[in-house]
Amino acid sequence: MENLDRVKEHIEQIRAEINRHNYLYYALDSPEISDAEYDVLMRELRRLEEEYPRFVTSDSPTQRVGAAPVEAFGVVEHPQPLLSLANAFSDEELLAWHTRVVRLIAGQPFDMTCEHKMDGLAVALTYVNGRLETGATRGDGFRGENITQNLRTVRSIPLSVPKEAPSRFEVRGEVYLSRDGFRRLNDERAKEGLPFFANPRNAAAGSVRQLDPRITARRPLDIYVYGLGWAEGRAMPETHWETMQLLKSFGFKVNPDNALVKNIEEAGAYYHAWAEKRNSLPYEADGIVVKVNQIALQQELGAVGSEPRWAIAYKFPAVQGTTRLNEIRVSVGRTGTLNPYAVLEPVSVGGVTIRQAALHNEDDIRRKDIREGDWVYIQRAGEVIPEVVGPIKSRRTGEEKEFNILEKLLDKEKGRPACPRCGAEVFRPEGEVMYYCSNAACPAQAQARIELFASRGAMDIRGVGESMSATLLREGLVKDVADLYSLTKEQLVRLERMGEKSAGNIINAIQISKDRSLGRLIYGLGIRHIGGEMAQVIAEHFNGLDELANAKMEDLLSIPAVGTKIAESIVNFFAQPENRRIIEKLKDHKVRVEKEKVHAEALPLAGQEFVVTGTLKRLSRERAHEKIRALGGAVKDNVTRNTTYIVVGEAPGSKLTRAQALGIRQLNEEEFLQLIGEK
Ligand code: IVH
Repeated sequence: MENLDRVKEHIEQIRAEINRHNYLYYALDSPEISDAEYDVLMRELRRLEEEYPRFVTSDSPTQRVGAAPVEAFGVVEHPQPLLSLANAFSDEELLAWHTRVVRLIAGQPFDMTCEHKMDGLAVALTYVNGRLETGATRGDGFRGENITQNLRTVRSIPLSVPKEAPSRFEVRGEVYLSRDGFRRLNDERAKEGLPFFANPRNAAAGSVRQLDPRITARRPLDIYVYGLGWAEGRAMPETHWETMQLLKSFGFKVNPDNALVKNIEEAGAYYHAWAEKRNSLPYEADGIVVKVNQIALQQELGAVGSEPRWAIAYKFPAVQGTTRLNEIRVSVGRTGTLNPYAVLEPVSVGGVTIRQAALHNEDDIRRKDIREGDWVYIQRAGEVIPEVVGPIKSRRTGEEKEFNILEKLLDKEKGRPACPRCGAEVFRPEGEVMYYCSNAACPAQAQARIELFASRGAMDIRGVGESMSATLLREGLVKDVADLYSLTKEQLVRLERMGEKSAGNIINAIQISKDRSLGRLIYGLGIRHIGGEMAQVIAEHFNGLDELANAKMEDLLSIPAVGTKIAESIVNFFAQPENRRIIEKLKDHKVRVEKEKVHAEALPLAGQEFVVTGTLKRLSRERAHEKIRALGGAVKDNVTRNTTYIVVGEAPGSKLTRAQALGIRQLNEEEFLQLIGEK
């Protein structure tokens, strides 16, 4: 008995906690925990309620869809409730969902759609006689907030629909903010001293639920529709897929990545493909949604509580988490920059343990008001270092310490701020946000340069990472990146904890790296502002390192992707005698500094001419150009009789008209992506 009491108490505690988080999330748009952490709480509560059904109450958070609407907006009753989705977190759970569907519909054939699970805010748009009449939030699923005036400001929501549309119908979709839009919004808020939004979804929700529509109008909101609520006055298609095509023809935005699949293996493949590529999407998606395509079967399957049996969300591993920021430390970058970074209480995010995160500079830390001791949101994006998004101010105790980089760098003996590695003086150039170590020979700088040179995206020398770079410098075996090529196996074997075999492997890896591409080499040199992609672009315009080293400002500026900052940085880099010496040394060691010889005529797009017009959704114009060139194609500004293809994005210009007049073949973005193997 006593045990049961304890279970009940535990259940109530979890409920209270979830209710509090619901309030923070739905009413204040300002959550204290990440979605993944919230999911864990909900799962625990569900598990307990399944095990102890006697403790299920009608007001348990498991029994409702969302939050009650805020009265200030006016309430909209949903004629058909807006449902939520059950989650799967593994292939097994996806399969279990499918098995149940198959069992319940007893052998009737069906296919499925796969869609991104957009991370935004669900809305219901009602059209009457061709006009948008109301726009509402989901609210608790039955009653939502009337946010019509705000949704009218979202440019991609049609205000009217063609006469072929039903006389009355309701479309559902997700209003979201792109990553870029989100970043811009948070930057602006920081400048104004306003609290930041933890993620694009909260930002979208906060933007749409503004009492003043003028505020909403200034936010770069967008929508993808994902379903039909109900319709009157016109027969609608029998499948979800066709319904979406029809909605598209009415002018609604439907996600072009949606796919129709025949079996659950294909759905699994869709999931894994997008789990890999999710960072390349211009917006955040937190998983995929798999839906039974046949509407009659959807109806037959019905729902359990608020979760339809005919659909499931298969979530991606989490990218956000919350943890305590224990301390801010400063490291020395390859150009001598003094980079603050966060030492975190280790936390697992999507199965990866995170201990450190980037903090860009002191100004940024101030602007976001991040303090030592704060609970913070952290975010992981692919392979790059996780970053601190911002502090959770509601969790402050008053013990947190504001960050001051000069105080941090204070060397008590010297009585002044000093480089944490070599003790030299530090300075901050006018107009810059970063402090620098003044010692060009600072071992930390040399180490960071070697680490970058050997890193995966550059010369990719396995075995030469942080600790090996430090050792080689400390032992005096290398002074700069070129010295790596004069290392011998005998020298390495003498190092502590180094066996014959590892030493041999490292020497091999170093030898192999002599033949890396020009782009990788340029990136590996560590020229300021030149990341991996930019290095690639630059490499495409020069035949070799010497040509780049002798390039004038105007040569560099003639490359479309290169602006003054980058051009200056390159010119400055090669003006340093020290850097010239390193390049000569690389050449002496027979590191290839010429462009790799590709047989252009063997490339798939060889001999074909492309013109791109309008805006592409998945690629920037520059990326598209690069891809074409990399595959051997030529990019032209104007359409002529020699043009092979015109690639047509959104809002194409007069080039399209000319291409049509000349009968040039058109490719939409989808077809273009297919052609270049991006699909
Ligand atoms: S379908 C029963 N499709 O996820 C159908 N929802 O967790 C319920 N969402 O409230 C919605 N992308 O806000 C559906 N392609 C998509 C979606 C999607 C995002 C959101 C939506 C919904 C929530 C459920």
